[in-house]
Amino acid sequence: MYYQYLVAQTGYSCVAFSFLVPIVLWCIQAGQHNISSYQLIGIYRNNGYLMVSCNGGLNQMRAAICDMVAIARHLNVTLIVPELDKTSFWNDPSEFQDIFDVEHFINSLRGEVRIVRELPPRMKRRVELGMFHSMPPISWSDISYYHNQILPLVHKHKVLHLNRTDARLANNGLPLDIQKLRCRVNYGSLKFTSQIEELGRRVIRILRKNGPFLVLHLRYEMDMLAFSGCTEGCTREEADELTRMRYAYPWWKEKVIDSYVKRKDGLCPLTPEEIALVLRALDIDRSMQIYIAAGEIYGGKRRMASLTSAYPNVVRKETLLEPSDLRFFQNHSSQMAALDYMVSLESDIFVPTYDGNMAKVVEGHRRFMGFKKTILLDRKLIVDLVDRYKSGSLPWDEFSTLIKSVHANRMGSSSRRMVILDKPKEEDYFYANPQECLRDPDLLRAW
Ligand SMILES: *[C@@H]1O[C@H](CO)[C@@H](O)[C@H](O)[C@H]1NC(C)=O
Ligand SMILES: *[C@@H]1O[C@H](CO)[C@@H](O)[C@H](O)[C@H]1NC(C)=O
Ligand SMILES: *[C@@H]1O[C@H](CO)[C@@H](O)[C@H](O)[C@H]1NC(C)=O
Repeated sequence: MYYQYLVAQTGYSCVAFSFLVPIVLWCIQAGQHNISSYQLIGIYRNNGYLMVSCNGGLNQMRAAICDMVAIARHLNVTLIVPELDKTSFWNDPSEFQDIFDVEHFINSLRGEVRIVRELPPRMKRRVELGMFHSMPPISWSDISYYHNQILPLVHKHKVLHLNRTDARLANNGLPLDIQKLRCRVNYGSLKFTSQIEELGRRVIRILRKNGPFLVLHLRYEMDMLAFSGCTEGCTREEADELTRMRYAYPWWKEKVIDSYVKRKDGLCPLTPEEIALVLRALDIDRSMQIYIAAGEIYGGKRRMASLTSAYPNVVRKETLLEPSDLRFFQNHSSQMAALDYMVSLESDIFVPTYDGNMAKVVEGHRRFMGFKKTILLDRKLIVDLVDRYKSGSLPWDEFSTLIKSVHANRMGSSSRRMVILDKPKEEDYFYANPQECLRDPDLLRAW
């Protein structure tokens, strides 16, 4: 051995650093106070440090964190605990440790990839002096990009900062160990803080006490409607307000939108009126608790009326908890979203009305939990059937039969992820159906 190691004991494991060559190794403590009885479980030469700033909402960042861990592992670099987006639309000042259990995140991946809370002092000074490189990686890249383009930059600059993280790793065509590591992070290493977990469990307990519950991810919030330009069922004033908001946000590139055409193409979130009809058509019992996982519904009570009259037990975290319970979460949209995420995972049925990041990540997580029922709505067909039903050309029984048959095979059960070469945005998202990780007893045992 040429290296001299400094062995630091940290809980269950030890981490060793060499002074001569930057090398990192992990071991499990076999006996007490006896270095010779440490068992080596992982070793790599540290190629440098990776800092990442995640962008987007909670679930987009969640998927990105899994990607970044997999990338860091593959490049043998040390990952600094990711920085969360504080300037996005949701404007949440929460840090990683305000949402996720950072201790668990680091420890659960020990032996796989080295993660530290902050740069070592020498590297920190380099960053303070501007001696690091910052860049957005190319979207949907495969691992050879990181190997051929990113790793040389890490070598050159020692500290590399990836300043955008959304969908930077391909869905498909990656080695199996990378896919499995993405899952291991997502389902094993990303645990919410104990405050969020406790409150989430409380909401679930209250719901369970009253029987089965369906979580409706009713993405009918002002930002969604302004961004998508979908104004079905809105008043003239509302449509104008949404348009003004869209023009006010420079990063929403699409400005001129024909709501009618967009809706007919199945590209609009379903309205509360539409989803009420669909749930009834699917024979969801009137007594079912419907938990609304969403922020404020645009149009408020008025727009919710058809849903609440069809389903009297519509609830949300604000109605199940006391205001004082939510006081510390109130201005932190990501922490509120984390609560909804927990409840969504546990629900008997999960129904997203739009395919955003939360819908997709929860869909995949529920598959992982044993293919729990997730109704994946075919919006294009639904709006067509709804319009025919409402115009009187389709009787209720036929409408209901058609809605049921269209969705018979869209319940989140086992299926192949759809791959479309060179069109990553249009193919199935890895995190919506991480098929490589499903029903894998080895992986489950490891957690
Ligand atoms: C990472 O470390 C492993 C184990 O030492 C080694 O086999 C692999 O070639 C290294 N890869 C890179 C990119 O440094
Ligand atoms: C990321 O870094 C690049 C290159 O330094 C810079 O041009 C870009 O504005 C940065 N993007 C963000 C979101 O910070
Ligand atoms: C949340 O933000 C609102 C508006 O910015 C403010 O009035 C309120 O006091 C804040 N609440 C808490 C608990 O910080």
